[in-house]
Parts: sequence; structure tokens; C-alpha cells
Amino acid sequence: MDLRLKGRTAFVVGSTAGLGLAIAKALGSEGANVVLTGRRAGVAEEEARSLPSAIGVELDLERPETVDAALMTARESFGEIDVLVLNGGGPVPGPASELTPERLEQATRTLLTAQVRLANAVLPAMRAASWGRILAIGSSGVQQPIPNLASSNIARAGLAGYLKTLANEVAADGVTVNMILPGRIATDRVAGLDARNAESAGVSVQEIQSQSERSIPAGRYGRAAEFADVAAFLCSDRASYVVGAQIRVDGGLIRAL
Ligand SMILES: NC(=O)c1ccc[n+]([C@@H]2O[C@H](COP(=O)([O-])OP(=O)(O)OC[C@H]3O[C@@H](n4cnc5c(N)ncnc54)[C@H](OP(=O)(O)O)[C@@H]3O)[C@@H](O)[C@H]2O)c1
Repeated sequence: MDLRLKGRTAFVVGSTAGLGLAIAKALGSEGANVVLTGRRAGVAEEEARSLPSAIGVELDLERPETVDAALMTARESFGEIDVLVLNGGGPVPGPASELTPERLEQATRTLLTAQVRLANAVLPAMRAASWGRILAIGSSGVQQPIPNLASSNIARAGLAGYLKTLANEVAADGVTVNMILPGRIATDRVAGLDARNAESAGVSVQEIQSQSERSIPAGRYGRAAEFADVAAFLCSDRASYVVGAQIRVDGGLIRAL
């Protein structure tokens, strides 16, 4: 299936590693111009060199001036942005009973406020062109809160509410807004969480991973590339009637209907 992404410009937040990088590669291989971003500008530039039409720029969700500068650089290189992928690092783990206002504010800044800033920046041109895609990487925790990830569960639920509201406002203008929910996809972040859980439980990382895999109906962690295939479809012309949806890519991890 041709996703009809050739010549479109995709701006992928948090694409120096993990899920964001896999999505950037998938969009690039479909012919899109890709803007790779992250705090590590050097890594973004290096990864961009492996794609047919891409640039790498610094973007730190904690620093709004870098968000504005990255958008400006993207427009100078490729014109207006057609596809915005919202992503970034996950917040610090911790239980709800120990959540502090400071930690919650930090999570909200990087998982909600920055996303609103980015969407506001790209929406006018998308609506004027009657075509746009905004896809946010969420988490299974949006539908089934994950123990010990309180600030992530809370801030992402806020993001889900924002995106669903926005989706209904802009759908008639040809702009789709959706969320894609990873369960456990093998990335550096998941490896780090497993190592942390192994240390606190006093067992091996392998034991934690095996326990985790047993809780997933598919019996394994997902691969970043198979997650990115779904994301690329949702960012494409082909997904024009998918509006305000939360698409799980979790091997069956979420048990609810
Ligand atoms: N992997 C999973 O199974 C899974 C499950 C549920 C939720 N998630 C969520 O999905 C997102 C991506 O996960 P991942 O596994 O791909 O994580 P990852 O491997 O740690 O990659 C995170 C990416 O975000 C960038 N980033 C981190 N902090 C940033 C900041 N302040 N500003 C801009 N970019 C930033 C990183 O680049 P730099 O270091 O260059 O900034 C990197 O490119 C995270 O929010 C994670 O919590 C993932």
C-alpha cells in the first residue's frame, strides 16, 4: 500500500532514539521529508544523514525557545509541517502517594504544555491546506494506569483529553488528531525501567523481563519497527477517517474492552 506520504513534511519530537526514531525512519522510507529532534542535536543530525530527505535539530521540551527555533528551522528547510508526531521522554517513576506538586508540574510541562505549544504552531497551516496529521505517542497507562508511574498516568490522561477535544474541532478541516498507545516496546527506556525494577525487587533483569512478557498475550515485547509501521499509517493520507482515536499497539497488554 502506498501511504501517499511522498513530499509531505514530518516533524518528529523526540526522535534521536526509541519509538520516535523508528517513526522518523518509517516516515522517511515512505518518502516524507523528516525533521528529527531531541536534546542531543548531534545524534539528530547523524540519524538524519541516514534518511533520503531529513534534517536534525535540537529540541528540548523543557525549553520553549528551542521548540520555537526548531519549528523555524524546519520551515526554512521544508516549508510548512504536514505531520506532527508528539513524543518525548517519560517522567520520573514514583507512586501517587509520594507525588509532589513540583514533580507533577514537571511532568505536565513536558507531556502536555509543550504539546499544546507545538500543536498551536502547526495547526493554522494544516487547516489552511485542508490536510494535516497530529499523532501523539501516549502509553497503555492512558487506559490502564501503570503502578509506580503516577505522574505519567496523570499528565498523559490530560494530554488524551486535550487531543480528543482538539480532534473534534479540526476534523472537518482535514486535520486528524490521534494517539498511539505503546504497551511494552523494546527501547532504551523500557530497558532502564526493567533494570530499576530488578534492582528494587532484588532479582535479575531477565527475571523482570520474563515476568513482564508473561503478562502480555503476545508473549513478548514489541519491536520499535512494528510500532512505527502503525504510526506511519496513522500519519498517512490513508488514515484520513481515523479521528480522535486511541490506537493500542501492545500485544494485548490492556485487558479492557
Ligand atoms: N517503549 C515503550 O514501550 C513505552 C511504553 C509506554 C510509554 N512510552 C512512552 O513513549 C515515549 C517514548 O518512549 P521510548 O521508549 O522511545 O523512550 P526513549 O528510548 O527513552 O526515547 C525518548 C526520546 O525522547 C527524547 N527526549 C527525552 N527527553 C526529552 C526532552 N526533554 N525534550 C525533547 N526530547 C526528549 C530522547 O532524545 P534526547 O535524549 O536526545 O532528548 C529520545 O529521542 C516516552 O514518553 C515513554 O514514556 C513508551
